[in-house]
Amino acid sequence: MFGKSRGAVVLLPVLLAASSLAQTVKSIRLPDDNALGRLKPAPGVEVVRQNCTACHSTDYIVLQPRIDAQHWEGEVQKMIKVYGAPISDADARSISDYLGRAYGSEAGGGKQAPARPKR
Ligand code: HEC
Repeated sequence: MFGKSRGAVVLLPVLLAASSLAQTVKSIRLPDDNALGRLKPAPGVEVVRQNCTACHSTDYIVLQPRIDAQHWEGEVQKMIKVYGAPISDADARSISDYLGRAYGSEAGGGKQAPARPKR
C-alpha cells in the first residue's frame, strides 16, 4: 500500500517535467482517409463520421457486403454493447438509417452479401 503511494509522489515531478516538454511538440497533419474509405454523402453522414471513426477507419463500413438495414442496426448495437462505443440512442438510429440507405442491400454498388445456404 505505502510503497505504491510513495512511488506516485516520486513520479509526479517526472510527469510534470514530461508534460511541459510535450507542450513544445508541434502538431502534425494526418493524411486524408483513403479514397476507398470515403463515406457516401447522404443525410446522417456526419453523425457516422463523428461516432464511427474513433476506433477504426471507415474502411470497415464501406468494405462490408451490402447487408440490409436491420443487419446494419445490429452492427451498430454490436459496436455499442460489445466494444463499448459511447453512442446515444438517437445517434444510433440516425447511423442505422444512413447505413441502411447508403450501404444497404438496396443501395447497389459493392459486393452483395452471399445468399444464405438453404438448410
Ligand atoms: C469503441 C470502439 C469502436 C467504435 C466507436 C466503433 N467500432 Fe466498429 N469495431 C470496433 C472493433 C473493436 C471492431 C472489431 C475489429 C476487428 O475484429 O479487427 C469493429 C469492427 C467493425 C466492423 C467490421 C465487422 C465486425 O462486426 O467486426 C464494422 C462494419 C464496424 N465496426 C462498424 C462500425 C460502425 C458503423 C460504427 C459507428 C456506429 C463503429 N463501428 C464504431 C470498435 C468500434
